[in-house]
Parts: sequence; structure tokens; C-alpha cells
Amino acid sequence: MGDPALRVRDASFSYARSHPVLRGVSFHALAAEVTMILGASGSGKTTLLKLVKGLLPPRTGEVSVLGARVSAPRRGRLDPRVAYIPQQLGLVRSLSALDNTVVGALSRIGTLPSLMRIPPEPELRHARELLGRLGIAHKADEPVQELSGGERQRVAIARALMQRPRVILADEFISDLDPLTSAEIMSLMREATAEGAAVVMTTHEMDVVREHADHVVVLRGGAVSLDVRGAPEAALIAQALRA
Ligand SMILES: Nc1ncnc2c1ncn2[C@@H]1O[C@H](COP(=O)(O)OP(=O)(O)OP(=O)(O)O)[C@@H](O)[C@H]1O
Ligand SMILES: [Mg+2]
Repeated sequence: MGDPALRVRDASFSYARSHPVLRGVSFHALAAEVTMILGASGSGKTTLLKLVKGLLPPRTGEVSVLGARVSAPRRGRLDPRVAYIPQQLGLVRSLSALDNTVVGALSRIGTLPSLMRIPPEPELRHARELLGRLGIAHKADEPVQELSGGERQRVAIARALMQRPRVILADEFISDLDPLTSAEIMSLMREATAEGAAVVMTTHEMDVVREHADHVVVLRGGAVSLDVRGAPEAALIAQALRA
């Protein structure tokens, strides 16, 4: 089975002047596994994903991804093998859906100006194919600022998959989507895990957890209250979520 794709060991974190948001969090995620992080609003899910991506440094403890320790990197030095879909999406609003998707290939094939001027044909084809799988091929050439919230969410997912990542960190990326679209997105995630990627996602959608989780981690008040592999009983999750 090998080393875990990512490991968080006894990590704590506080934002300036606030009480601790994460307190001694430990868990690991395996390649080819969908890990779902659950927890009430404010329990620290987004903060935890930011630690894993290296956007925030743990105050104590350690985070390692793909065998290397993550420390808050200098700007522009984030690990390109780790795709991160933030809760706030982080798209370039003035660029089209297609161009935003192609940006995902940036870390693999070159610098932004060269890529955006003349994206290689295979990358363009792949980007269009991903947008098609996500049901928004017809929006490919529209600026993202003219798309709906759910359509933007799908562009952010296409951009992440363009990276051909080994770890996908996704923060509530299927909230507010219709059931058909979220099923298609989960099947894209399944394809990524079949190719050996580790998917770590936060969600509040219990149906999605029941159907697609290989591993569930529940945060309560910044600490892990449940860490189980397989599909846990709903009652067990409910108990772990309760404050
Ligand atoms: N930039 C920040 N500065 C100060 N406090 C913050 C900041 N970001 C988050 N917090 C606080 O940290 C705590 C955890 O926030 P976080 O965003 O990690 O929660 P979450 O579990 O992702 O919640 P949600 O389900 O609403 O997305 C909250 O109390 C929040 O107010
Ligand atoms: Mg959040």
C-alpha cells in the first residue's frame, strides 16, 4: 500500500488573536481513496485544507504530502501535484471558462504568458473535453464573470483536473449543484482515484458521504472526533458532529 498520500500529525493552528481553530489534528489519506472531511460550520475544515496545501503554517505539528514535509512556501512555490479547489474558487473572472481551465495545465507545461498566448492543441482539447463532461461545453468561451455560481464551480473543478494532480483538495465543491451534476463530478473524482490520486474533500452533503466516501474524518471544535474507513453508520457521524 505504501506511504499515505498525505499525513497530518498533531497539527494546531490559530489565526492572529483568536483562540485555537485546530487543536492536535492527526489523520492520513491514502492514494486512490476519497476522504471526506465533515464538521459544522466553523469547525476548521477550510483551515485544515489550507494547512495541507501549504497556504497556512501549522503552529505545532507536521503536515506532509507525497512524502515531503509541507511548510508555508514562498509565493509561487506551491506543489503543483496538489490541486486545490478553494471554497471561494479563485477563478480569473475576466477570462473565459476555457482559459480558466487551461490555467490548470500551467504547472505542467510552462509559463502563463506562453501558455495563454498559444495553448498547445492537446491541452485545449482536454480542457474542452473536461468542460463537456461537466456539462458546460457551451459556456467554454464565456467570461467566468457571466456564469452562474454552479457553472463557476464546475470551471474550478475542470481547472483542477487539468493539473493531472496526485492529490485533489476540494472545499465544498459540490454544494449547491443539482444531483446529476454532482454525480458526474463524483465520477470524475473516481476516475482520478482510479489513476492513483488521493481526493480529500469537505462536504455537508450526507447523501454524497454515504455513496462516495472511502474514509470519513469528522472535525468538532477543531479536533478530530471520528476517523473511520469505509461507510460509517449515519448515527455514528451524527454523534461525532454534535457539539
Ligand atoms: N482569515 C481568518 N481570520 C480569522 N479567523 C478566521 C479566518 N478564517 C477563518 N477563521 C475562523 O476560524 C474558524 C474556522 O473557520 P473555517 O473556515 O476553517 O471553518 P469551516 O469548517 O471551513 O466552516 P464552513 O463549513 O462554514 O466553511 C472560524 O471560527 C472562523 O471564524
Ligand atoms: Mg469552509
